[in-house]
Amino acid sequence: MKFFVDSADADEIRDLAATGMVDGVTTNPSLVAGTGRDFTAVLEEICGIVPGPVSAEATATDHETMLAEGRKLAAVAPNVAVKVPLTWDGLKTCRALSDSGTRVNVTLCFSANQALLAAKAGAAFVSPFVGRLDDIGHDGMELISDIRTIYDNYASIDTDILVASIRAPIHLKQAALVGADVATLPPGVLRKLAVHPLTDKGLAAFLADWRETGQAIL
Ligand code: E4P
Repeated sequence: MKFFVDSADADEIRDLAATGMVDGVTTNPSLVAGTGRDFTAVLEEICGIVPGPVSAEATATDHETMLAEGRKLAAVAPNVAVKVPLTWDGLKTCRALSDSGTRVNVTLCFSANQALLAAKAGAAFVSPFVGRLDDIGHDGMELISDIRTIYDNYASIDTDILVASIRAPIHLKQAALVGADVATLPPGVLRKLAVHPLTDKGLAAFLADWRETGQAIL
């Protein structure tokens, strides 16, 4: 399973990339706005940190402008994946960009039928938002499971399921159990993955016993 970082904070991404766990990055207009920085500068910097796909979202809603934006974003670096919304204009743009060799991440996916459309439009990634579905009383992970089943029914589908809107470590475990291809993790959630109180307790006990021996390995 691939781990992407869901952030536009270049310093945070650099720090996490040093763990060797980061296979890509996803940004969205809200995350970029949170940095207060120029989008192109942020994108260039992130693409230089992580060699894997870096999603950059178009902000136009009509196909022609979205396509022009997508081409501009794709020209920033070879590892840019253009993000488009799951609308008819977005799907049309996805097809055009995919046909010209640009990877596209179709975002704001909230149903299995939408995910099927993204695959038919040639998307490299589809981003179903589990947390936002949970927020309105739906079961976000059930959607991931449904999309996995549907995509596996058709050998011709080559779209990766990128689980987005992850809010807690349990989402990652559930996504891995149903066989999602990618999870995009907010930095705070990624950092929590290695933490367990029994690890801390066990380590403290081992070190206390080790001190009693009076030995040093180095
Ligand atoms: C990533 O591609 C999405 O934009 C992001 O995961 C959305 O997360 P949120 O629902 O917590 O804003």
